[in-house]
Amino acid sequence: ATTTLGSEIVSVVNKLQDVFTAVGSSASQIDLPQICVLGSQSSGKSSVLENIVGRDFLPRGTGIVTRRPLVLQLINRPATSPTPGKETPKMNGTDANANPDEWGEFLHLPGQKFYDFNKIREEIVRDTEAKTGRNAGISPQPINLRIFSPNVLTLTLVDLPGLTKVPVGDQPKDIEKQIRDMLTKYITRPACIILAVTPANTDLANSDGLKMAREVDPEGQRTIGVLTKIDLMDVGTDVVDILAGRVIPLRLGYVPVVNRGQRDIEANKSIKAALEYEREFFENHPAYKGKAQYCGTPFLARKLNMILMHHIRATLPDIKQRIAQQQQKYNAELQALGGPMGDTSSSSIVLNVITEFCSEFRTTIDGSTNDLSLNE
Ligand code: GDP
Ligand code: NA
Ligand code: MG
Repeated sequence: ATTTLGSEIVSVVNKLQDVFTAVGSSASQIDLPQICVLGSQSSGKSSVLENIVGRDFLPRGTGIVTRRPLVLQLINRPATSPTPGKETPKMNGTDANANPDEWGEFLHLPGQKFYDFNKIREEIVRDTEAKTGRNAGISPQPINLRIFSPNVLTLTLVDLPGLTKVPVGDQPKDIEKQIRDMLTKYITRPACIILAVTPANTDLANSDGLKMAREVDPEGQRTIGVLTKIDLMDVGTDVVDILAGRVIPLRLGYVPVVNRGQRDIEANKSIKAALEYEREFFENHPAYKGKAQYCGTPFLARKLNMILMHHIRATLPDIKQRIAQQQQKYNAELQALGGPMGDTSSSSIVLNVITEFCSEFRTTIDGSTNDLSLNE
């Protein structure tokens, strides 16, 4: 599958959630951080998000395309085998990857399931225009989209309009401030992982995304630098110095990527073909071939997975404590009623399972933290 984000930990989180559900624990929530893209207009934010989700559904292109925040909730839902006699949902449409177990639903269109991801994109465009007009207007009112799939981690990603300075079309004079205020709301949250997107064919020192990320995350604890358009750099130039932390060091480092260009979008190039092209690009490029494993969308997804694992690991002791407290309370109540009668072992099972997960995570994470940065 081309879906890369979360694929490594999706089964682990599912197992945990299964155990919680089995014992009816109310302490079952693992709240994963939100992932937001931040950068100037047309830096490639929507393209990056789409590649890490692994499905085509976001409006992309030159000019101001993303004009309202898109809050994208991925929801893991196990595949259901087709029930005999029951009609499978209509797959007719233009999406070659349509699958009865994967669909989208908009908050503003309750109950309507979109199996065709091209139709999802059309609806995003339609509702954007309905609320902001056709002439480059923007609005802080988010579009809420949920994607249900067996292949995703339950997680929220936010596609945001880009930073811009000069008003065009119907944009107000203070467009820069309006967009900044809109973005600030999302990226100030401590649980927001910021993908600070900068095109590699521009000067990193002028990156609006990086500057703004620094304001809300001065220690760089939740900012990943993403360098897009590596394929558009002048011959003989590369981002090796940036990756090595010699230009503007970032604690979590930078990932260079190659997304689809405008011509690829017009030619409907698939994500699969795009990822293949990206891999070949880095493997064959004289500046990157020695470190191709640290380049491209799959590495970005691995970095994100690693951060999510750290987060889960940090959350588990708290969940463990809450379950232990519940168990104590439960035992005390049983004692008051004259002693246990039935099966009281289930919450200790949960504790054991979580303890195992904790040490398993530690092994996985400690074995791979070196991958997190490319500092030499
Ligand atoms: P956004 O405005 O930041 O969301 O950027 P989009 O994802 O809409 O992309 C803006 C334009 O840049 C589109 O025409 C993309 O095809 C193009 N683009 C984005 N990333 C790359 C890249 O890595 N290489 C090339 N050649 N074009 C890219
Ligand atoms: Na754009
Ligand atoms: Mg966009």
